[in-house]
Amino acid sequence: MILASIFVCFCLASAFNYYRTRRQRKFVANLKGPFTWPLVGSMHKIVLLTQKNFFQHSSKYLAKYGILSRCWIFHRLFIPVADLELAKQLLQSESHQQTGHELMKDWLGNSLLCCPPEQWAQRHQRLATFFQTDNKLQLLKLLQEKAEQPFADLSVFAESREVFDAWQIMSPKVLDLILAVNCGFRPSDQYKQTFADLTELYRQRFLGLKSANRFTFWLGSPFVRRRQLRLIKRINNENKLVLNQCRQQQQVKNDSIAIKVDHIEAPIKLDHQALIDVLAASENLNNEQLLAELNTCNYLGYLLCSTTLCFALVQIARYPSVQQRCYEELRKEKEINLHELPYLEAVLKETLRLQPPQLIVQRQLSQDFAYTHSKVGDAALPIGAEVYINLYELQRSELTQHFDPERFLDPAAELLSFGLGPRQCPAQQFSLLLLKSLLAPLLLQFELLPFGDALRPNLRLAPGSRNGFQLSVKLR
Ligand code: HEM
Repeated sequence: MILASIFVCFCLASAFNYYRTRRQRKFVANLKGPFTWPLVGSMHKIVLLTQKNFFQHSSKYLAKYGILSRCWIFHRLFIPVADLELAKQLLQSESHQQTGHELMKDWLGNSLLCCPPEQWAQRHQRLATFFQTDNKLQLLKLLQEKAEQPFADLSVFAESREVFDAWQIMSPKVLDLILAVNCGFRPSDQYKQTFADLTELYRQRFLGLKSANRFTFWLGSPFVRRRQLRLIKRINNENKLVLNQCRQQQQVKNDSIAIKVDHIEAPIKLDHQALIDVLAASENLNNEQLLAELNTCNYLGYLLCSTTLCFALVQIARYPSVQQRCYEELRKEKEINLHELPYLEAVLKETLRLQPPQLIVQRQLSQDFAYTHSKVGDAALPIGAEVYINLYELQRSELTQHFDPERFLDPAAELLSFGLGPRQCPAQQFSLLLLKSLLAPLLLQFELLPFGDALRPNLRLAPGSRNGFQLSVKLR
């Protein structure tokens, strides 16, 4: 009796699911995809996916179902894409800008990543302006100063020729720089540790079954959830302190006659305009949105730049001719000029092509998306579909898997690792400057040696390596 009732319920739910997705099914009838079971769809494809096997599974999947396919999970329609033609049409379209960042909602929920579409354009523009125009010279000065600081910790490894994990050494340096630029302060060690711990916590949750949605996370990992909330609170408490100081400072500037300065606790001296200043000056952001925006830039900047830097170091160590050419370019000038390093920039771009740190760019279709494609033909994807553009596979199949920075010298190849179109990364130029500011002095001071084990790729929000980014250095 019980079994019969379960069976009837299952049949009813499947029929209902089939009925509500009938329109979408018509749209994607031309696409190949894995077998769809009643109700659960191709759940088996997702359940088997782990951080460790992501790359093998995604390559096999693409080989079997092609560069554009469909995959149903319950009522949700996933469209994995690894095709340049289609990716460009979608990313450059003005009307398909919605993304989804379910996993990060507790931390970054009110930022531009998940905000309503009508707010997004203005918020994106504000960040783009901060990174690209008004402030560029000040930021460049800050990076240039940092670039001249010696790498004391690497000298220890250079003496012993010990193999080390580049992530352990370089990611704290990236975090320092990102926080200086965005928050305009030197953060406490506790803040930095909390930030790194929280990022690590999210990285571990990525692709975990319990993190499939908020309900399964709430039910399946109560202790992790509590720790996550505690870490977020700690970060936001310190952010609020900085915000208060920044507001006081702006108040002093605006009412320099009306307010007695000596009644206000001396704020930290900012020698450049930080992102938080720009956000605090804007009238249409409440505190919650402002902190979310700040956290988003800190998180993305830290994770994506650290990942790129570590992959670049490993690649340079493994290609002596590339390293030699970088060194010669750097030695040409007496002082490091971050704007004048075309070859080093090409090395970074080639690294980004082969190892895009934001591996997947997502779009949620809020209306039907009509496309024209030289191989697949003309068709449309339906409203509600979730498109996942796999930059890793896309950029490897379009060009080759061979590491060759030359392709980013004149005429430069196309790079999609920062996204494309209206929603592309607002900090693209700044990221390259930041990475050069760390790489340039390092390559001048040390020779990178390809010692240690090869990378064992995995995907934890950003691509990484299970055994770290191993290499060794010697003093020049
Ligand atoms: C190597 C470094 C970086 C790479 C490869 C990178 C890549 C990307 C990509 C692929 C996107 C998504 C674009 C899309 O959805 O079409 C993105 C968005 C974004 N990035 Fe970056 N990024 C990097 C560094 C940074 C840094 C340093 C910051 C800030 C300090 C930053 C802030 C953002 C923000 C705020 C967005 C969201 C834009 C929006 O949704 O409108 N990124 N980035």
